Amino acid sequence: KISKHKSQLMIQLRRVLHDESSVFKARGEGSNPYNVEYIGPRGPYDKKSARELVCSLKKKALVKMVQKDDEPFKSMGLGAQFPNQPVFGEDKIFESCAVVSSAGSLLASELGKTIDSHDVVLRFNHAPTKDYEVDVGCKTTVRIVNSQVISKPEFNYLESPLYSNIKIVAWDPSKYNHTMEQWYQNPDHDIFTSYFKHRMLKPETNAHILNPSSLWDLWDYIQAHMPLRIRRNPPSSGFLGLALLLPHCAHVDMFEFIPSFRMTKRCHYYDNLDDISCTFGVWHPLSAEKLLLLSMNIANDTEVFRDGYIRIPGYQTLGC
Ligand code: C5P
Repeated sequence: KISKHKSQLMIQLRRVLHDESSVFKARGEGSNPYNVEYIGPRGPYDKKSARELVCSLKKKALVKMVQKDDEPFKSMGLGAQFPNQPVFGEDKIFESCAVVSSAGSLLASELGKTIDSHDVVLRFNHAPTKDYEVDVGCKTTVRIVNSQVISKPEFNYLESPLYSNIKIVAWDPSKYNHTMEQWYQNPDHDIFTSYFKHRMLKPETNAHILNPSSLWDLWDYIQAHMPLRIRRNPPSSGFLGLALLLPHCAHVDMFEFIPSFRMTKRCHYYDNLDDISCTFGVWHPLSAEKLLLLSMNIANDTEVFRDGYIRIPGYQTLGC
């Protein structure tokens, strides 16, 4: 069962990658809403060791947050609103960290206890734990939240307890080569109004905004290790979550990012929308991310395809 699922999944991931890449050939340059101008290499991810891939990520894409001194925030008198504490301290390394993808295949996984046994648990957007404890656990250390969840009233960012007393990394994509000033003038969604209000209302919540150039550092990294051209949109928050944790964790376990044999059409464990492109990607270069992460993984096939997690060793563990 495991090997059949694995080979079908690999075929599907490679097919999506190939189809996306053929779009470039079919339509010339194709769509490029973020004005990506990539001139770097495109290499074979499957010819490199896990260590080479992880250490190359450290070199190319350390995840940065907006800082108090960054413009335009400093001149606008908003710099002081950013938290004094970093998301994670520089010196502390956690033994184990968990990234909980919000995939439908978490349902009936009974992974909750395993997830909660990690020192750090990272979740995404408005993914709930209440009523899903058996499958996804109940501990949350950090949430990566996109600018739609921050700005749209239905997500209730200012008042929902999901966004209190934890670490938050809020993100919104800039254009590929834009400065922070240009991004501030032209975000995809207005991340700033609610972010600053939330900072005033809940200063004890360690909420940061991602420096959007980090997204494109991650995109460059993925493209540099893919032989085919990838979609020119930002990486998914799953990949961002991994990159955020690797400097601070002995290892990172990512749950149902690579779908186990519980794979389903269902997009999220917490709603009943069926959409397989949540798993294979329609906007993010998600299949490329998943193929790359399989090459960084040190867990065995039973752990990946039956239990539902890949394990990526942290920078310090590998001595990168
Ligand atoms: O849908 P949402 O962006 O909230 O999901 C969080 C992350 O979990 C995604 O960015 C993606 O990396 C991962 N995910 C996945 N497969 C799904 C749903 C989410 O890999 N079916």
